[in-house]
Amino acid sequence: MSGPFLRTLAGEVTSPPPIWLMRQAGRYLPEYRAVRAKHPDFIAFCFNAEAAAEVTLQPIRRYDFDAAIVFADILLLPHVVGATVTFTPGDGPSLAPLEDPKIVDRLSWDQAVDGLAPVMDTLGRVRSQLAADKALIGFAGGPWTVATYMLGGGKGDAGRQRARTWGWTYPDAMDTLLARLADATADYLAAQIRAGADVVKVFESWAEGLAPPLFERWVVQPTQRIITRLRDQGVTAPVIGFPRGAPTSALMHYAPATGVTALALDMAQARSEMASAPSDLILQGGLDPALLVAGGSALVDEIHRLLDLFAGRPYVFNLGHGIWPHTPLGHMQTLVDTVRGGR
Ligand code: CP3
Repeated sequence: MSGPFLRTLAGEVTSPPPIWLMRQAGRYLPEYRAVRAKHPDFIAFCFNAEAAAEVTLQPIRRYDFDAAIVFADILLLPHVVGATVTFTPGDGPSLAPLEDPKIVDRLSWDQAVDGLAPVMDTLGRVRSQLAADKALIGFAGGPWTVATYMLGGGKGDAGRQRARTWGWTYPDAMDTLLARLADATADYLAAQIRAGADVVKVFESWAEGLAPPLFERWVVQPTQRIITRLRDQGVTAPVIGFPRGAPTSALMHYAPATGVTALALDMAQARSEMASAPSDLILQGGLDPALLVAGGSALVDEIHRLLDLFAGRPYVFNLGHGIWPHTPLGHMQTLVDTVRGGR
């Protein structure tokens, strides 16, 4: 497999850059909504390999992206270890929040990978239908981000405040929770690669707002633990890290310290100081999903700013966060055509 996405992750500069988008399989697509309507339970939908493979492939058919990302969710892992997750449309995920620090050892960590077998089935199905020059991305949540949902119950800011308070109150239990999550995540990612993923991504969506010692202990060290465990198992596939919301100065440390192959940037991180980071640091992302809703010349201008900013270094075009459900399909086409203008 040697398409532009994997070549970029191997350090090659490709012009135009490869493109895929976070949440490319999702509610902005009418064909996604049609399948979703037949599967009202979101978790059951993720675990239905045939339906999940279908929606994984939909954005590739429509926009010819360079990579497919398996349709699943970062909350499937806490779900299978025992933190029952439910999704209420419009209200986001909800979990039974952990309170007692002793419960960490009572969760079913050993069953994580077996419980997630349907995701491996989805990957196998997608790989067999995907062209050889298209990459397949597997993923998991970063341990800290998954822990914020497990501890906070998924209740937005209030839930995240609760998670941070729990970590300050029970620092040893937090270390144990993050270590268990990191090990289960590494084994899950290794299984995804065996099932057909070419590359994996760690979504650390709530890396923002942590004091430097906590960023080190709750984000950097668990991510490093995942990558060490993957490499110890002989897994050589590239790993993309996405520490959303971390300050740029922290990124310069996060990338070498964790051992990620590539760094996915949010909107605020896609700036000139990152463009002058060491050229062996492969970068991805940065476009504001709000611009994809706004469209017009602002969208085109910002695409050119990003292409110019990261020209001459290995870069993968993507958003700084997931596509919004009310994104017009025409703006999506403008984005793809503008990025590929030179092709
Ligand atoms: O296309 C893709 O990117 C692949 C599939 C994918 C989903 N979730 C599908 C999904 C991926 C990579 C994720 C990651 C994910 N899930 C993250 C990390 C990235 C980020 O956005 O920061 C997080 C934090 C979650 C947890 C989660 N899942 C939330 C907060 C929500 C939103 C709830 C809502 O009602 O909007 C979800 C649901 C979800 N995951 C949807 C999709 C397509 C929408 C559900 C639907 O169809 O109703």
